[in-house]
Amino acid sequence: MTVLAVLGCQWGDEGKGKLVDLLGSRARVIVRCNGGPNAGHTIVNPQGTFKMRLIPSGIFHPRAICLIGNGVVVDPATLLDELDMLTTAGLDMSRLLISDRAHVIMPYHRILDELEESDRAAVGGGLAIGTTKRGIGPAYADKMARVGIRMADLQHEETLLSKLSAVLNYKNRILTRLYGAEPIGLHETYLQLVEYGRRLGKHIIAADLILDRALADKHHILLEGAQGALLDLDLGTYPYVTSSNPTAAGCCVGAGLPPTTLDGVIGVYKAYQTRVGAGPFPTELLGEQADFLRNQGGAGHGEFGTVTGRPRRVGWFDAMAGRYIARANGLTALAITRLDALDQMPTLRICTGYRVNDMLLRNFPAEIATLEIVQPEYEDHPGWLTDTSGCTRWDDLPINARKYLTRLRDLLGVRIDIVSIGPDREQTILLREPFDTLPDIASRYVGTVQERGGNS
Ligand code: GDP
Ligand code: IMO
Ligand code: MG
Repeated sequence: MTVLAVLGCQWGDEGKGKLVDLLGSRARVIVRCNGGPNAGHTIVNPQGTFKMRLIPSGIFHPRAICLIGNGVVVDPATLLDELDMLTTAGLDMSRLLISDRAHVIMPYHRILDELEESDRAAVGGGLAIGTTKRGIGPAYADKMARVGIRMADLQHEETLLSKLSAVLNYKNRILTRLYGAEPIGLHETYLQLVEYGRRLGKHIIAADLILDRALADKHHILLEGAQGALLDLDLGTYPYVTSSNPTAAGCCVGAGLPPTTLDGVIGVYKAYQTRVGAGPFPTELLGEQADFLRNQGGAGHGEFGTVTGRPRRVGWFDAMAGRYIARANGLTALAITRLDALDQMPTLRICTGYRVNDMLLRNFPAEIATLEIVQPEYEDHPGWLTDTSGCTRWDDLPINARKYLTRLRDLLGVRIDIVSIGPDREQTILLREPFDTLPDIASRYVGTVQERGGNS
């Protein structure tokens, strides 16, 4: 039995969905740990092409129980659309479970996300974060402020009504008096939430019981991070970050699993760097070279946002940021994705460090003002100008591609277990079987909480 986390280690869209879909066949329970429908995880497998927003990307494996963890913020309308889409695709959705502790994204969260972004853009123009406007920040802010509505509340109509009337009283004052916007009606919002509760009720559960059982039964558990660790609220490029913790520690909190159960952390990095939204990007490319790279990766798999369709900013691999994230998350292995997107590049650059006024920095800086002026230190590598998308083994890769990957491994100080050379599940070179090569900690678990003596 192994608990393995799959984490994005840049600014999101590293290909986490593809890897969770691949590794999901080995796991009995797959947990989405953080974020909400700001995520778009693309999967290409024999059942088709899917863009997952909230449902774990392992849902395509018929034995897998897929759990939306307590750390996720759930937009019920988006979730129901996704459920319908997958049901139509012929999947058994009784395997989808939602933690009763997960918070609900409310209509006022989406409206406030829009209004607050416009406000930030208006003040000096440069303060907008470029959020996905899905209500993520406002929903997590309410969770912290302890005025959030949780999935459990949708099933208790009296509690829901009293919580909702208190919070709407406050939110409507903000909407009308601060922004001059329309208030939100209590009655229709309440009825809508009750309806969501009815439709989702059979999926809402006490997630700790499921996880405890899975640990006791010595099943593999796969944790699916959303976003990327450089977007982490604490460790990322604050304030140009998301509002959750897409880190290894955040995955444990968001799944509701003790940190001592985590055996391995696979850090997913693209072979270069991308970012959607605002914020510093020291190795960013502009102009024709950026347009060229943005359009690599195959039809429908260029660098355009999965959720918003925005063109992603692109740049060279940043090993300075990458090393910081690898250490902060205790990565045990790397998955390098979209190597094929570099197939046509004659020369590749890797940023190995940052300089400010000729001084080499020792740490990845916390201050945005510093990150905006750092001079990347580059080393150049010859490209391979060969199609890698059909490679199935390490030895099939062109020698320059192997050298490039080896250099990334050395700079990050973590071994590579997976190389991805196309969007399809099959377009993957598995150098080691991640679940089998981690220490087996099954002996730590000798029964469920009840079997171990209960809570008394
Ligand atoms: P996620 O949010 O981390 O799951 O990543 P996204 O799905 O938002 O973005 C990754 C994009 O790259 C999607 O279009 C994937 O289908 C695609 N993709 C994933 N791995 C590879 C790869 O190795 N090569 C290519 N060409 N595309 C890939
Ligand atoms: P996946 O899981 C890429 C970015 C937004 C914005 C910032 C804050 O598909 O990798 P938010 O709506 O979260 O308040 O926006 O974070 N962002 C992502 N960028 N991939 C994602 O998810 C992202 N989720 C949020 O673009 O810059
Ligand atoms: Mg994405």
